[in-house]
Amino acid sequence: MIGLYGAQNVFDTPKPERLIKRVLEIATKPGDLVLDSFAGSGTTGAVAHKMGRRWIMVELGEHCHTHIIPRLKKVIDGEDQGGISEAVNWKGGGGFRYYRLAPSLLQQDRWGQWVINKEYNAEMLAAAICKLEGFTYAPSDAHYWQHGKSTENDFIYVTTQSLTPEQLQALSDEVGEGRSLLVCCSAFRGDANRYPNLTVKKIPKMVLSRCEWGHDDYSLNVENLPMQEKSVPKQTVAPQQAGLFEGDSGEGAA
Ligand SMILES: C[S@@+](CC[C@H](N)C(=O)[O-])C[C@H]1O[C@@H](n2cnc3c(N)ncnc32)[C@H](O)[C@@H]1O
Repeated sequence: MIGLYGAQNVFDTPKPERLIKRVLEIATKPGDLVLDSFAGSGTTGAVAHKMGRRWIMVELGEHCHTHIIPRLKKVIDGEDQGGISEAVNWKGGGGFRYYRLAPSLLQQDRWGQWVINKEYNAEMLAAAICKLEGFTYAPSDAHYWQHGKSTENDFIYVTTQSLTPEQLQALSDEVGEGRSLLVCCSAFRGDANRYPNLTVKKIPKMVLSRCEWGHDDYSLNVENLPMQEKSVPKQTVAPQQAGLFEGDSGEGAA
């Protein structure tokens, strides 16, 4: 591994690419998805990539930035001629996306009640709720209640406020006819059903309703992962994929 990471190898047990190649030959065929949930230096992903397998890697540490991304970029650019490259006649190609996992949106307070994680500021919260509810995060300068939209006429407003009937009425008036608004707030008073253009939801509850608990098998269907919105030219790495928090300077693993 000296060639790949310089003189000092930070991994105690680096796996030779040939060994992983043998494993993948036995267990997979081209196009299959290979999961390495402890990515480390990224050998499994690099080998899977060169063998025409798709791959998902998860890494807890900084190796994503120090090792995995630089390594996979070299693989894609055809600059990594070590490992199994010669054996599989690797010339480069393909690409990958990477994400940083956000902190948990909810946490339990000292009484066991679910509350919004203090690490979330208003923008992060609005972006996260948009994502959960299927809206595109697109805050408007003109209308404080437009944090995102699902169509030209359907919007979402996210606030940690407890809304009064007067505030709901004012929102309904501003939204007007021909448009609709999903209002996500901490709490509200009055009858939310009286505003035909508003749907009102409470934030911890609406998030919890989308969570699954206590399964032995969550059956994540990795074949139906959401597709990237913008197309990425072949043979390039998606630079800092727009993630949960568009504009976040961080880059993410996986
Ligand atoms: C020995 S390396 C794995 C090597 C790797 N599978 C390969 O193909 O070269 C183990 C890695 O797992 C990571 N790790 C440990 N716990 C983890 C967790 N809960 N989630 C994600 N990664 C984790 C460590 O940071 C370490 O980089």
